[in-house]
Amino acid sequence: MRTRGGAAAMTKQKAKQRIRKLRKQIHRHDYLYYVRNDPELSDSEYDTLKQELIELEDRYPDLVTPDSPTRRVGAEPNAELGTRRHETRMLSLAAVYEEAAFRHFCDRCIEKTGKQRLSLVAEPKYDGLSVELVYDNGRLAAGSTRGDGTTGEDVTDNIRTVREVMLRLRRANSVSVPRHLVVRGEVYMSKPDFEVFNRRRKKRGDKPFANPRNAAAGSLRQLDPGVTAQRPLRIFFWEIAPASSSRPDSHWQCLELMRKLGLKTNPLAQRCASPDTAAAWYRELAERRETLDYEVDGCVFKVNDLADHETLGTRAANPRWAIAWKFAPRRATTTVRDIEVSVGRTGALTPVAVLEPVNIGGAEVSHVSLHNQDEVERLDVAKGDTVEVERAGDVIPHVVTVTRRKRGKRRTYHLPATCPACGGKATRIAGEAVTRCTNPSCPARLKESIRHVASKAALDIDGLGEKRVDQLVAEGLVTRLDDIFTLEADALADLERMGRRSAEQLVAAIDETRRAATLPRLIYGLGLPRVGRAVARDLAAVFGSLDALKEAGRERLRGMDGIGDVIADAVAAWFENPKNRALVKRLKEKHGVNPTFRTRGGRLQGKTVVITGTLDSMTREEAREAVERAGGRPAGRVSGETDLLVVGANPGSNKSAAAESRNVKTVDEAAFRKLLGA
Ligand code: IVH
Repeated sequence: MRTRGGAAAMTKQKAKQRIRKLRKQIHRHDYLYYVRNDPELSDSEYDTLKQELIELEDRYPDLVTPDSPTRRVGAEPNAELGTRRHETRMLSLAAVYEEAAFRHFCDRCIEKTGKQRLSLVAEPKYDGLSVELVYDNGRLAAGSTRGDGTTGEDVTDNIRTVREVMLRLRRANSVSVPRHLVVRGEVYMSKPDFEVFNRRRKKRGDKPFANPRNAAAGSLRQLDPGVTAQRPLRIFFWEIAPASSSRPDSHWQCLELMRKLGLKTNPLAQRCASPDTAAAWYRELAERRETLDYEVDGCVFKVNDLADHETLGTRAANPRWAIAWKFAPRRATTTVRDIEVSVGRTGALTPVAVLEPVNIGGAEVSHVSLHNQDEVERLDVAKGDTVEVERAGDVIPHVVTVTRRKRGKRRTYHLPATCPACGGKATRIAGEAVTRCTNPSCPARLKESIRHVASKAALDIDGLGEKRVDQLVAEGLVTRLDDIFTLEADALADLERMGRRSAEQLVAAIDETRRAATLPRLIYGLGLPRVGRAVARDLAAVFGSLDALKEAGRERLRGMDGIGDVIADAVAAWFENPKNRALVKRLKEKHGVNPTFRTRGGRLQGKTVVITGTLDSMTREEAREAVERAGGRPAGRVSGETDLLVVGANPGSNKSAAAESRNVKTVDEAAFRKLLGA
C-alpha cells in the first residue's frame, strides 16, 4: 500500500509535521460534514486522509494526543440542540475499497480469534445519519445522534416523529424484552421520497438538498420537531449496543431480536460462512445497488460471535471486528478549468464544464454538460470553482453542487450571443430553456446531425466517427445530411489519413445501410426533436413508412397512443418544414432509402420485453429488433411496465431479482424464439 510505504520512509520530524497538517484538515472536514451538513470532500478522499493519519499514529504512538481526530468519531454536536452522552462509545468503521484489503481483514480476524472458520454477517452500508435509541422497559426513552462518538445531540423528540421508529417495543413471539435496551441504526431518506421532497422545496423557493443523506441529517437535526415530522425519514437498525442489560451471543441473533421487537432491520442482511461467500455477496449488492430504494455506499461485514468482539478489540475509533467494504465512489470533487460551448444538431448551445480530469467509479471524467443557462445560474458555477461531480450507474456524469467558489475575481458564466461554430446569431425563445444558433446551415449543426444518423443506435455506419465527420464537412464533401449517400470512393481516397481501402470500406458500409436501414432506426437517426428510440419505434409501428408519417399531420399524431401532445406537435412541426420534406423525398427518390415496417401482429404485441444475459442465436441488438418486429417494445431495465424477461446465458442477477420481486414472467431463449415465431 502506498501510504504504508510512505509512513515507513518518513523521518519522525516529518511525520510530526504531516500529522499536525492531517489533523487540521480532518478537523475542518469533520466540521463541514457533521456540523454543517455541507461537505467539501467525497467520502473516499476523506477516508484517505484519515487512513494516512491512523497509519502514522500507529507507527509513532507517542505522537498520539487525546484530541486527535482518530480518538473520536465525528465532530462537536450542534450546540443548539441539547446533548446526550452515549453509555458506550459509538464507533466508526475502517473502510476498504479493494478485495485484497477485505481479505486481509478476514485473515487477521481468523488469526486473532484462532477460529478455523470465520462467520460474518453482511449488511448494506447505508448512507444516512447514525443514531442511538434507548428503550427502558420497552418504551422509547431517548434518541441521540452520534455526535463525536461520546456525546451526541439529543434528538429524542425528533426521533419520535419518525414513523418507522417504534415508540413501544413489540412483545410478540414470547421474546423477552431487555429492561434496558440501547440500539443503533441509520436514519435515511429513500431515493423516491427525496426526489418528491426536493421537488416541493424547489417549488416553494427553498434551497434543495444535494443528496438524500444531507436531507436526512438536516431533517433530523431540527430544533422544531414539528418540522422533522413533515419529513419522510426512515430507519434501519444495525446494532444492539453493549450497554444493554442483556444481549444475545451473536450479531445475527441481535438482528433477529431487533426484528422481533419491531425494530426495522434490513431483509438483505445475510450470514456468510466464509470470506468467499462474503465477497460474492459484496459483488451481488454492488450490482443491485441502483435498484434499491435507498442509497448504499458499500457493505458492512461484522464478525458474528460477540465474544470475538472482545478478543479483537478496537483500533483508534474503529472496531477490529467489523469493516466497511465500500463501492467505487460515484462522486468526486474537482475544479472547473473552463466553461466551453458545444453546438448540437438542433442548434442548441450547451455550456460544458471542462474539468480537471478525475476518476469516478473507474472512469475518467473531464467534461460535463451544464445543460443550459438556467442550470448554470441555479448551480452558480464559474471557471475556477470546485465542484462535486456524480456518475451513478448509466447516468451521464453531472455537477451536483459547487463546493467552493473561486476566490477573488469571479464572473458568472453567460452563454454567448453568437454561435461559436459559425458566428450566427444565437437566441433564446421566451419560455424555453435552450439558447439556439439560428443559422440553418451552421456547420456544427450539420456535423452533429451526421454523427447522430451514423451512430450505433441509428444507422450504425462503421467508419463515420467524429473526426471523419469533421473532415467531410470541412472539405465540403457533405453539405446536407443525405449527402453521405452520394460519397464516392475516389473523392474519399484523396482525404488525409484515409487511403483507398478505408474509402472503399466506408462506401460499402454506407451502401449496406441504404439497403438495410430499418424504419425505427431511420426515424430516430433523422433527429426529430423529442424523438428517442422508443418514440421512433412507435411511430414506425403505427405509420409503416416515412412517407405515411410525413403526411400524418398534427391531429393524427396527437391521437396516437402513448405519445403526448408535445411530442406530436414537435414531430408535426418537423415534417411541416419544407427543408425536411425535401430531405425525406430525396432519401427515397434519389438515394433509395425507403424502409418500411410491418409488425407481424406477433405474440409480443404491446408487450415490454427486457433481455438479460447472452443469447446463442442472436446478438442483443438483433434480439431487440426481433422484439420490435413482433410488435413488442424492448427495454433496458426491469420496471413496473415490464411484461417479459428473456433470460440468456450468464444473466445479471440484478434484472432477475427485479423481475422476481415484480412478478414479471421470465422465459429462456427457446421459449423466446417461439414467441417470435422463429
Ligand atoms: S455498524 C462498530 N452497520 O457507517 C460498528 N454501521 O463508518 C458501527 N453505517 O457510524 C457501525 N450502515 O453510521 C454499521 N450496516 C451498518 C451501517 C453502518 C451504515 C454507518 C454508521 C456508522 C458508520 C461507520
